[in-house]
Amino acid sequence: MVQKRRRRKQQAPQFEDEIPYIPPRAEEQLLIEHLMSLKAGRILCTSHGRGQLAGFLASENAGADVCCHYLDSHYAALCEEYWTEADHAPTVVSGPDLPDREFDVVCIPVHNQGDAELTRDLMQQAYQRLKHQGTMYCAVNSPKDTWLHEQMQTLHKKVTRVPKRRGVIYSVVKTAPLKKERNFHAQFPVVFNERELNLETRPGVFSHRRLDAGAWALMKAMTVKDGMRVLDIGCGCGAVGIAAVISMKRGRVTAIDSNARAVQCTLRNIELNLTEDEQQRIEVFQTHTGELEAEGEFDLVLANPPYFSNFSIAKLFIDTARRTLKRHGRLMVVTKMPEWYEEYLPEIFRRVKIDKSGPYAIITATQ
Ligand SMILES: C[S@@+](CC[C@H](N)C(=O)[O-])C[C@H]1O[C@@H](n2cnc3c(N)ncnc32)[C@H](O)[C@@H]1O
Repeated sequence: MVQKRRRRKQQAPQFEDEIPYIPPRAEEQLLIEHLMSLKAGRILCTSHGRGQLAGFLASENAGADVCCHYLDSHYAALCEEYWTEADHAPTVVSGPDLPDREFDVVCIPVHNQGDAELTRDLMQQAYQRLKHQGTMYCAVNSPKDTWLHEQMQTLHKKVTRVPKRRGVIYSVVKTAPLKKERNFHAQFPVVFNERELNLETRPGVFSHRRLDAGAWALMKAMTVKDGMRVLDIGCGCGAVGIAAVISMKRGRVTAIDSNARAVQCTLRNIELNLTEDEQQRIEVFQTHTGELEAEGEFDLVLANPPYFSNFSIAKLFIDTARRTLKRHGRLMVVTKMPEWYEEYLPEIFRRVKIDKSGPYAIITATQ
C-alpha cells in the first residue's frame, strides 16, 4: 500500500507528494526520539535507510548544516530523492570517508548485525570530525547491547548510556582528539597468472581482508583475449578488472562500482599492482545506474553480482551488459544461485551456457 508522506511530529517535514513513506529502522528511530529538541549548527549523520534522522534534524534546525553521508551513491541518490520536496532537506553526500570538516554533533545509528569493522571505522572518523566539546550520539537496536558500549569507551572514558525498550542510545562529549587512531585498511596477497598481486581493501568494500571465492572463480574462468574491451561491473576492490588487464598485452578495461570506497580501493590496487603501461589500460569510475558512454563497445562484461535486493542489482548488471556489449560480445557472471539467471538471461541473450562444475556457477551469455 502506498502511504502518503504524512509523518508523526518527530518525523517532521510536511510533504504534498506521493513518495511512499519509509519508516526509519529501529536504531535510527531511537535517535530521532532522543534528539527531538537538539539544536546545533553543523550536524553529521549516517543512515541505513533514507536519512530519516538527518531529514528530521534538518527540519527542526532550519538554516543548520545537516549532512547525511553514504558510501554508496545508490543509497545516497535514494535519500536525496526522498527529501527533494522538503523545505529544509539535508545535504546528501557519497564518498569513501565522512566529510573532512568539523561538526558540532555527529549521529551514527548502528544495526546489531551490521558490519562491525565498518561501524568502528566510521565511529572513529566521526569522533575525529567533532569540534572540541562536540557530542557524538550512537544508538543500537539491541536492549542487551554491550558491544557498542565498549566501542564508545574506546573513544572516551565517560559514556552516557540511555537504555530503551527497543535498544540503547549512547553519547560522548569530545574533550580531546584520539591519541591513537586505528588503521582499518588490510592488504593480502593473490597470485594470478604467475603475478603476485597485493590487494588492499577497507571496511565496507566487498570481501574486506580476503579475495572472495566467487571473484577467484570468475578470474580463473574468464576468457580474456588480447585487444579486448572489458567491463568489470561492480568491481569491488578491483581484483577481477586488474586480472583482466594483466591477462592481455593490449586491450582496455573499464571498472565501475556504486561504492565510493570500492572505487578508491580499485584505484589504489591499480597503483600498487600494475605497471605504468598497464595503468594506462584501465579506467575506474563510480556509478550506480549502469549508464556508460560506451554503448555497444565491449567484447566482454564480467560480474559477480550481489545476492541481496531480490536480484534487482543483478538485473541492472545484466541490462547494462545488454546495452554496452558489442554484437557477439559476452557476459560472464559468477553466482552460487544460478536458477534465477537460468530464467532471466534467455529472455535477454540468445545463447546462454551454464557451467555448474565448481562450487560457483559460471554463466556465459552471448549477445
Ligand atoms: C559481490 S560484490 C563483487 C565485487 C568484486 N567484483 C569481486 O568479485 O570481489 C558486488 C559489487 O557490486 C557493487 N554494486 C552494488 N550495486 C551496484 C550498482 N547499482 N552499480 C554498480 N555497482 C554496484 C557493490 O558495491 C560491490 O562492490
